[in-house]
Amino acid sequence: MKILVTGGAGFIGSHTLVELFGAGHRPVVVDNLCNSSAKSLERVARIAGVPQVPFYRCDIRNREALEAVFAQEDHFDACIHFAGLKAVGESVEKPWEYYDNNIGGTLVLLDVMRQHGCKNIIFSSSATVYGDPQQIPITESCPKGHCTNPYGQTKSMLEEILTDMRRADSQWNVVLLRYFNPIGAHPSGLIGENPNDIPNNLMPYITQVAIGKRPELGVFGNDYPTPDGTGVRDYIHVVDLARGHVAALAAIERQCGLAVYNLGTGRGYSVLEVVKAFEETTGRKIPYSIKPRRAGDIATCYSDPSKAAAELGWRAEKGIEEMCRDSWRWQSQNPEGY
Ligand code: NAD
Ligand code: UD1
Repeated sequence: MKILVTGGAGFIGSHTLVELFGAGHRPVVVDNLCNSSAKSLERVARIAGVPQVPFYRCDIRNREALEAVFAQEDHFDACIHFAGLKAVGESVEKPWEYYDNNIGGTLVLLDVMRQHGCKNIIFSSSATVYGDPQQIPITESCPKGHCTNPYGQTKSMLEEILTDMRRADSQWNVVLLRYFNPIGAHPSGLIGENPNDIPNNLMPYITQVAIGKRPELGVFGNDYPTPDGTGVRDYIHVVDLARGHVAALAAIERQCGLAVYNLGTGRGYSVLEVVKAFEETTGRKIPYSIKPRRAGDIATCYSDPSKAAAELGWRAEKGIEEMCRDSWRWQSQNPEGY
């Protein structure tokens, strides 16, 4: 299929491009590079063995520019929509920017898509829409919860907007993918997560400690009701996550209508278990100290991924050791990112 990939130069987008090429699809990237580098696309081309990745530097809020892409490319069979801002803390400081980019951008994208007869979309949602989940493991039928920050609100609202679009027009096929915690990197070490500034998330922080950029990891709370008191999450290798998008395209081909899937492993690891796994796999020591809880954090979050297994034939295959090894390979081969 010919696929429009918004945000394709980013962390999850770049890994998904590799899997799309591998499965014989024809991706075309639109990205404004506000949180990424075009070098990721050169690296993707190297891994995939293609001359280059078709790329338009364009903001999805820019209707004229997006129209021009659709005109130039003739048609798209589907869109995988990664483009968006994702820093939780920043979203609290700059709510307007988050609503404008994530919601405003998606509204323009949906309008241009439908005007060009493309009504198939896979949307990057997040486990954050469950809020403090009512049940663990979390199934897709678990009610959505209260999001404590504008970033989470945009994901939840966009799910509603896409659901309403489909309800009003049965030609749409909408797949909402709720990601758990993507970490790891492509095993080549050529592409990976490239955080600007101080990382907010656990694994990029650990790899920066391991390479000596930061003195120690702060563990946000050790008094949660979990086996060792630290937060438990469902970490998923980004290559597995990327493959979940290829599986979701098959659902679109089957005219799935509206479909919602958790993409996780179904297994939770605590912060200290991740630190231990990283140390054992890489031989690097990660000094840490216990800090107060981070505002908005929950104790435990992991998925029941059986719906994606049953309906998409997709399951995560890579374990925590591979996630740690590949995160470290990317960091150590690219100490300054791209
Ligand atoms: P990322 O920041 O690496 O990638 C997002 C890409 O979108 C970047 O390349 C950025 O330049 C681009 N972009 C942002 N706004 C744009 C705009 N207006 N026009 C064009 N391009 C724009 O993030 P990621 O980790 O790859 O995440 C991809 C998607 O998955 C995001 O929507 C994110 O919210 C969602 N998600 C990520 C995680 C995670 O932990 N990484 C978890 C759940 C959901
Ligand atoms: C974060 C986001 C969430 C997003 C998810 C996707 C917040 C509050 N939530 O969730 O919206 O969907 O990423 O990746 O940012 N930790 C430390 N020290 C650190 C960093 C993290 O102890 O320096 C702990 C956290 O308290 C948590 C675990 O590590 O228990 C994972 O944290 P993180 O990687 O930020 O992911 P989430 O909190 O799940």
